[in-house]
Amino acid sequence: MNSITIALSKGRIFEETTPLLKAAGIVPLDDPESSRKLILDTNRPDVRLIIVRASDVPTYVQYGAADLGIAGKDVLYEHGGAGLYEPLDLQIARCRMMVAVQNGFDYQQAVTKGARLRVATKYVQTAREHFARKGVHVDLIKLYGSMELAPLVGLADAIVDLVSSGNTLKANDLVAVEEIMDISSRLVVNQAALKLKRAQIQPILDTFADAVRQQA
Ligand code: PRP
Repeated sequence: MNSITIALSKGRIFEETTPLLKAAGIVPLDDPESSRKLILDTNRPDVRLIIVRASDVPTYVQYGAADLGIAGKDVLYEHGGAGLYEPLDLQIARCRMMVAVQNGFDYQQAVTKGARLRVATKYVQTAREHFARKGVHVDLIKLYGSMELAPLVGLADAIVDLVSSGNTLKANDLVAVEEIMDISSRLVVNQAALKLKRAQIQPILDTFADAVRQQA
């Protein structure tokens, strides 16, 4: 039997995916938080999990190194989705992609007066499209984390980042001024694998869909 490889990342996505995997009859034999293993066997001899960085999940699935993957909409949007079929919103790891500025910065005035806005973000593609839609000229500065710092030290006027509880913004004297999109984790499937291994993949998709409906 062909084996099925599912790519996912450690942390919140792994924790919130575990019940869905269980509902699909898939139980990992190791915990990625305590094990350093990157390939995790499961109770099903034909299914294994690979642990990759969240932003790399679509790449593994695109090239067929994984048949399925679980990744946030933020990551999929930046990747562009080539070669990926996105059948299901898992409705987990929910948050929002927001524009935020330092408390007291007049964002509305900055975007209407026609000057260039300096925006720091990990989500360059998302930010570029958002500000292009608004007709606002931006200089984008790519960062890899701790975006909240950028307005505080004069690196940028604004950031584009994920907001969940809002605590990180608050702790750094920032305020959200605009929502770009709602984010949640999605199941993605390699399109070629779906054709070649449909007999194995389709039941997994169906049980995931049932589990999502039951958790709603
Ligand atoms: C995300 C995001 C914010 C924070 C928002 O970072 O980039 O910094 O969570 O969460 P909150 O609104 O609940 O405070 P994460 O901790 O995932 O780390 P990252 O910078 O590596 O993405």
